[in-house]
Amino acid sequence: TRVLVLNGPNLGRLGSREPDVYGATSYAGLVERCTALGKEFGFEVEVRETNSEQQMVEWLHQAADDRTPVVLNPAAFTHYSYAMRDAAAQRTAPLIEVHISNPYAREEFRHTSVIAAVASGTIAGFGIGSYELALRAVAEQLTTR
Ligand code: DQA
Repeated sequence: TRVLVLNGPNLGRLGSREPDVYGATSYAGLVERCTALGKEFGFEVEVRETNSEQQMVEWLHQAADDRTPVVLNPAAFTHYSYAMRDAAAQRTAPLIEVHISNPYAREEFRHTSVIAAVASGTIAGFGIGSYELALRAVAEQLTTR
């Protein structure tokens, strides 16, 4: 099974970006970890990042057309992008929202997710480990359907 791990704006800068909040693992490290974890679950994981809302919307359309499960870190788009929410709502396979930090423990504007209601579920606050839990959730969603 192919699984897409899609990352929104600024996540390509993991490692150097606010390490006190997002940890020391680089984006390359995240890609490596997701790919390795995917193998354990028997997934072919493809990890992507973009700063572009248009690009993210187009990837979600493609995933919907292909029935591809998605692990999605919408980053700041989480809090305001209705375009991304409407794209995610078209999903035809599990879509897990993930966050490295715990947005509820942070600024008020991070307390709202416009994506959460159209996701299969949300995992937040476990650092890079959030992606591992999300891939596990995809595996579970695929076997219990
Ligand atoms: C984030 C949380 C968002 O509030 C923030 O804008 C990000 C990353 C996270 O993974 O913790 O860019 O999605």
